[in-house]
Amino acid sequence: MTVLRAPASSGAAREAAQESVRNAALRAEAIAGLTAREKSLAPKWLYDERGSALFERITGLPEYYPTRTETAILRRHAAQLGSLVPPGGALVELGSGASVKTRILLDAGAHFGAYVPIDISPEFLTRTAEDLRRRYRDLPIIPLTGDFSRPLNLPGAALDLPKIGFFPGSTIGNLDPAAARALLERVRGWPGTEGFILGVDLVKDPEELVAAYDDAQGVTAAFISNILVRLNREAGANFDPDAFAYEALWNADLARIDMRLVSTRKQVVYLSGTRIDFAADEPIHVSASRKYTGDSLAALATASGWRVAQSFADEGNRFLVACLVPGRPSSGTES
Ligand code: TRP
Repeated sequence: MTVLRAPASSGAAREAAQESVRNAALRAEAIAGLTAREKSLAPKWLYDERGSALFERITGLPEYYPTRTETAILRRHAAQLGSLVPPGGALVELGSGASVKTRILLDAGAHFGAYVPIDISPEFLTRTAEDLRRRYRDLPIIPLTGDFSRPLNLPGAALDLPKIGFFPGSTIGNLDPAAARALLERVRGWPGTEGFILGVDLVKDPEELVAAYDDAQGVTAAFISNILVRLNREAGANFDPDAFAYEALWNADLARIDMRLVSTRKQVVYLSGTRIDFAADEPIHVSASRKYTGDSLAALATASGWRVAQSFADEGNRFLVACLVPGRPSSGTES
């Protein structure tokens, strides 16, 4: 997909052009995913305006412990985490959403030179940036609309600053291992990268994990089903969202929660003229959330040019905030 980066002169024409580029990417990726032998849709498409709002609701659900747990860790260690950013350096956040957790670091970051929020949802990003500008008047806020699962062109104003990446929310867990590694390598390769603050959810009791992704109020189910509503609106599809049931499963072998929409009957759906056949009980895999251990995270870091310098967990060992620093290039001879 094209990086949807806003040039200085903005306007309705540019927005319309960006939207049509986005819809074309959505359509192409959805057709590829839904005509594969095992059907899937990419989780990044969950975050349209309604999806982003539903996700914010998920973060406040009683079953969804990651947000409050990570927030408490960030609060407790805010000064130390903030001090990782060198004076005048930039904090660059991947998938910033409403930047709620970021405020904890920004409050400890009077010395920051810039904050660069990156998010795939332009509506959300614009509003958040305006909000932050009002609150942190002396801090340049340099938003970038883009898909961090692909290479990005960092904004020129932030390019030469020393920088610390920030990737909270266990969002790294939504990427498959190869993509997670590629992302860590790309951030490692940004000019001036000095560190990476990474939030990961830890392996724990499957019951607690499944509840976090299948809440009693059905907010997560609505969030996941919204992808079908979006495909109907933006990709010329005719899904009946009520004919798909949401399910969350713990896959112990891969240490991940799988989130799927299961066809409740045999049915045919069209997406911009492409026919998609569903058998009864056939799933669409929409998202996975991988859970780490200290060891599996260290292995991922090492494999992608980083090293875990320090990490902070909560008392219940539910969640981990890790500080990565550039590691030695892996020569294959680890002593
Ligand atoms: N990064 C979050 C996680 O894996 C995202 C998330 C929470 C999510 N709930 C979800 C993604 C439900 C898809 C579906 O925990």
